[in-house]
Amino acid sequence: SDINLDEIRDTLVEIARTAGKIILERSGRVTFDDKKNAVDLVTEVDKAVEVLVSDTLRSKYPQFEFMGEESYVPGETQLTDAPTFIVDPIDGTTNFIHFFPQACISLGFAVERKPVVGVVFNPFLNQMFTGVAGKGSFLNDEKLPLRKASKLSLQGSLCAIEWGTDRDNDNYEIKVRAFESLARGLSQGGGFVHGFRSLGSAALNMSNVAAGTLDSYWEGGCYAWDVCAGWVILSEAGGKVVGGNPGQWETPIDGRVYLAVRGADAREQKKYIEDYWSHIKGK
Ligand code: IPD
Repeated sequence: SDINLDEIRDTLVEIARTAGKIILERSGRVTFDDKKNAVDLVTEVDKAVEVLVSDTLRSKYPQFEFMGEESYVPGETQLTDAPTFIVDPIDGTTNFIHFFPQACISLGFAVERKPVVGVVFNPFLNQMFTGVAGKGSFLNDEKLPLRKASKLSLQGSLCAIEWGTDRDNDNYEIKVRAFESLARGLSQGGGFVHGFRSLGSAALNMSNVAAGTLDSYWEGGCYAWDVCAGWVILSEAGGKVVGGNPGQWETPIDGRVYLAVRGADAREQKKYIEDYWSHIKGK
């Protein structure tokens, strides 16, 4: 296609810096409302940043579609094959409210539902993660991954997990069971994975897997805006995103359950994913 992806990345980086200033200024000083339940939170800053982003993108790229977390209407908003900006104005809203320094703006661009540009900016740590399909991904000026471990295996890995906001269905029980199994090992007892981390932001979890500072990230219940930008950053670092159902490895961006693993050779990746699923299934 003749879409200039580098130019789109540069535009998104500029927007991210502007939004980042607002996020920093307002973090820890906002009131919040509930969305679908008492742990799914939104603030006026999420809404204001989304308006700023959509106004800027719509005037610069009127020919492209826009999908944003705060303007999404369940059952109505549809992701299509058209080139689409997919945006989460603040990913990690709970952190933003609590002034916990892991929140970001997540700006993605997808063509035919394939994520092709991703910009994830954490203004607290001044971390600008960027990725363009076919051109690699970066943390500020450093090429990802930052760290290439010699071997990728579930045993001894550092895993991101999130409780998410859907806590009243099977999803929760599956998570509790899988975490226990991953922490204690299937039959051997004692430690198995080195540890769990919850950054509280899907985009930052994925970007840290891309960097090699985390080995994997698993969550059920994500939306396209949680994963679009991080997907590009991770794939360009040699990582892989797979679907939530055991064996179903090809996953669309508008799926809901994801496992993201860091780059390694394809055989190690496959083994890691298979081992992970065996813990989710409890076998
Ligand atoms: C949330 C974060 C969180 C994840 C939730 C998301 P938000 O996004 O990414 O880590 O567990 O599933 O909804 O609401 O902060 O934009």
